[in-house]
Amino acid sequence: MPLNVAVQMDPIARINVKGDSTFALLLEAQARGHRLSYYTPDRLALLNGKVFAAVEPLQVRDELGNHFTLGTQRRAELSEFDVVLLRQDPPFDLAYVTTTHLLERIQPGTLVVNDPTHVRNAPEKVFVTEFPDLMPPTLITRDLAEIKSFRAEHGDIVMKPLYGHGGGAVFRVTRDDLNFGSLYDMFSVTFREQWVVQKFLPAVKAGDKRIILVDGEFAGAVNRIPAEDDLRSNMVRGGAAAATQLTARERQICERLGPALRERGLMFVGIDVIGDFITEINVTSPTGIRAIKNLGGPDIAKLIWDKIERKRQ
Ligand SMILES: Nc1ncnc2c1ncn2[C@@H]1O[C@H](COP(=O)(O)OP(=O)(O)O)[C@@H](O)[C@H]1O
Ligand SMILES: [Mg+2]
Repeated sequence: MPLNVAVQMDPIARINVKGDSTFALLLEAQARGHRLSYYTPDRLALLNGKVFAAVEPLQVRDELGNHFTLGTQRRAELSEFDVVLLRQDPPFDLAYVTTTHLLERIQPGTLVVNDPTHVRNAPEKVFVTEFPDLMPPTLITRDLAEIKSFRAEHGDIVMKPLYGHGGGAVFRVTRDDLNFGSLYDMFSVTFREQWVVQKFLPAVKAGDKRIILVDGEFAGAVNRIPAEDDLRSNMVRGGAAAATQLTARERQICERLGPALRERGLMFVGIDVIGDFITEINVTSPTGIRAIKNLGGPDIAKLIWDKIERKRQ
């Protein structure tokens, strides 16, 4: 049965057509005959307990420069949709959090992917701390004395913002780096939140592996190898995508996380693994499914729609 699907995303005109995971999901949905509507998060409204958005019918094509057509805009009550894809990119700020509060109102009549309540409760670098034995030593704080004692214990560390993304403001600080004091000062004026201090993992040279789980089950993976002159593996920072297999340890990690993700309605999740350790559980708008398919891996968009269709039957 065709589903009535709305996607909440950033402006579709500006996406990277060949790399965007949301776009891959939309292409697959359309191929299956589902009807697509599109809106950006700034068009959401909550009025007397009902959630509305100005939506536009959407058609997509896997063609650079000609990837979408929008129909006539209309004000829709979001509960009329079978499925809403919550897919805007971070920053995970209070505007983002507010959209999760609004989308929460249309459940369970509408299936929101991922579940907005649990997206809100699972910021990527916080949720992962529920699994301390799978993580590198990690401190979340803005307290100087705490950071100094962590640094004394662990030597080389990484400092990065708690709500950062795409490798922004990720620094390696070596044991004897005299810039630490200034970096601390800069973090404390730049970020209102606590930040992440983590043991530096030399294994990052071999890559930061993105593993996708669909409804708690392993679906595919891609390794991202940092450029020679950068710590960061993010593809937007020049990290190179490479085909990969899961290690035994990574399989164990997926088995441990699976039930927690499934229980929370986190259907489309990307975890990041460096060496033997997870550093993030991405639930807001994970990416990587096109890279995985382009490298000869599975078509994860199909797996996701199989699951969604089963849940909507
Ligand atoms: N503890 C660490 N050890 C080594 N490299 C790290 C560590 N933490 C982050 N990095 C590097 O920085 C990149 C970005 O960090 P990450 O924690 O994934 O934040 P973001 O949300 O910005 O992607 C990683 O892909 C990796 O290359
Ligand atoms: Mg990352």
